[in-house]
Amino acid sequence: MTSIQDNIRGKIAIVTGASSGLGESTARHLAARGAKVVLAARRVDRLDAVVAEIRAAGGEAMAVATDVSKRADLERLAAATIEAFGRIDVLVNNAGVMPLSPIDKLKVDEWDRTIDVNIKGVLYGIAAVLPRMKAQGSGHIVNISSIAGFKVFTPIGTVYSATKYAVRAISEGLRVEVGNSGVRVTIVSPGAVDSELKFNTTDPDAAAGVNAFYEANQIPADSVARAIVYAVEQPADVDINEVVLRPVSQEF
Ligand SMILES: NC(=O)c1ccc[n+]([C@@H]2O[C@H](COP(=O)([O-])OP(=O)(O)OC[C@H]3O[C@@H](n4cnc5c(N)ncnc54)[C@H](OP(=O)(O)O)[C@@H]3O)[C@@H](O)[C@H]2O)c1
Repeated sequence: MTSIQDNIRGKIAIVTGASSGLGESTARHLAARGAKVVLAARRVDRLDAVVAEIRAAGGEAMAVATDVSKRADLERLAAATIEAFGRIDVLVNNAGVMPLSPIDKLKVDEWDRTIDVNIKGVLYGIAAVLPRMKAQGSGHIVNISSIAGFKVFTPIGTVYSATKYAVRAISEGLRVEVGNSGVRVTIVSPGAVDSELKFNTTDPDAAAGVNAFYEANQIPADSVARAIVYAVEQPADVDINEVVLRPVSQEF
């Protein structure tokens, strides 16, 4: 039987949205398994605190201030990773927002932000690492979709769902396009997970429903981090294409 215990050790992994929730937990899990982790988000004070804890535990990590809605920031993030560690083995495209409301509330600024972070941010991340990964002949891009990428989350999550369907389409297209280049692509689609995401909703009626739904169902962020670790630790010739996970109690 092949041991995969050490497959993550020494890998250089970028995690976007690593200042809280799934991204923070994923960065901690990958670091604990021996990856050198680059944590990206806008709240650098939060990133610095996580980096300090990873280092105190004997791991290697650094923080890079990044707004994923700005392509130049992702390019800087990739360049900083190369400068520090010489290669990029894993990108976890995790940064995301979820301000929920019915379409007829016309919260168009929130639609724009959701599209900019959840779709363009993922594409900018891919653009920043793909040439390097293809040149290396190896790499792994893990994109975070959602159960809302399988079911349209009406009546408050139509735009959010649209972005998460898009993440699945982009990921599946990318997987086919990269072919036999050595680059692996994984989609991770969680259900309700305890994080700051449930507090993004500004519409009071929608927020009440979201909070009740999360209170009734949410599971810890490390349930998703473990799924990401599972995909990353596979041997180089195995691509976990898709992981879908829900709280046991969640029907939607
Ligand atoms: N929690 C769930 O129930 C759930 C379920 C399915 C899928 N997801 C997905 O999981 C991912 C992580 O969400 P989470 O639940 O962990 O939520 P979270 O705790 O709110 O974390 C979101 C992360 O994204 C970052 N972010 C937001 N806008 C950004 C921007 N413009 N540039 C860079 N980073 C940005 C935030 O950092 P800064 O604010 O510091 O920039 C934060 O680190 C998202 O893609 C979300 O859609 C979550």
